[in-house]
Amino acid sequence: MPDLPALDVLLPADAPARVLAPRPDEAELISLFTSDPTTGVHVRANMVSTVDGAATGANRVSGSINGPADLRVFRVLRALADVVLVGAGTVRAERYTPLAVPVELRAARAALGRADALELAVVTASGDLPDSLLVTDRPPLVLTTASAPSLDALRSRLGADRVVVADGGVPGAVDPHAVLAALADRGFVHVLAEGGPTLLAQLVDADLVDELCLTWSPQLVGGPAGRVAHLPTWFAPARALTLAHLLHADGVLLGRWRVARLGA
Ligand SMILES: NC(=O)c1ccc[n+]([C@@H]2O[C@H](COP(=O)([O-])OP(=O)(O)OC[C@H]3O[C@@H](n4cnc5c(N)ncnc54)[C@H](OP(=O)(O)O)[C@@H]3O)[C@@H](O)[C@H]2O)c1
Repeated sequence: MPDLPALDVLLPADAPARVLAPRPDEAELISLFTSDPTTGVHVRANMVSTVDGAATGANRVSGSINGPADLRVFRVLRALADVVLVGAGTVRAERYTPLAVPVELRAARAALGRADALELAVVTASGDLPDSLLVTDRPPLVLTTASAPSLDALRSRLGADRVVVADGGVPGAVDPHAVLAALADRGFVHVLAEGGPTLLAQLVDADLVDELCLTWSPQLVGGPAGRVAHLPTWFAPARALTLAHLLHADGVLLGRWRVARLGA
């Protein structure tokens, strides 16, 4: 287990403990993040931002703006998920490889009924995915469009069952509803959306996100970095958030927000 910090529970005042010391099984943290009963598909997004709203540092990846406190929650959220859903831009920038749940979190994962393997699902129109994901015995589930230039190549490389055409009403674009339906068909209902900003914004816009976990890194970076949700148009209406809890370590704030679903 890496060296991870204690987390102060700042809010709500009636949370089960004021300080969550790191422990291998992360029982208290898991209990905090499973406090909401869920039925059917549940989409939790997990993102990190600087205090001035940047989704990356100057190196254009999130590695320069996250840290041990964020990692502590990040690994627990992965352990609670059936599948991690990401856009291909994130896979390429952040150099994703097949996912593994830390050994010390596997018992808690099994107790919650999750399968041993943590799946990775990637949304792409281009089909341009790195060899770090393709040349492996655990390829991701690829959600793409019927017009993807590399559709046949992906199918022969990964196996037809790992490549899903998830078209919707917009030509050449994967439909977020079709993505979640395809994941649910495979039994993946606890969905952890790790971005990036383009995919997350579409999921929010389609009214599909239940929860946003957002780490605020105590840095100002300026620069041209985008925010954690990027869409050329405004959300209409803006989505209201309700704070479920707020954790803290060394100036890093980690919020968990419930997202109001328009259809609810
Ligand atoms: N701060 C954070 O928490 C955080 C989290 C994740 C990523 N990031 C950063 O965000 C940056 C990447 O941003 P991004 O917005 O480009 O990431 P992204 O949303 O992961 O990737 C965008 C790409 O995903 C695919 N995609 C998204 N929606 C699609 C749709 N409806 N249909 C078909 N394909 C779709 C496309 O891939 P193709 O181009 O292959 O068609 C598109 O170019 C990186 O710098 C990364 O480090 C930050």
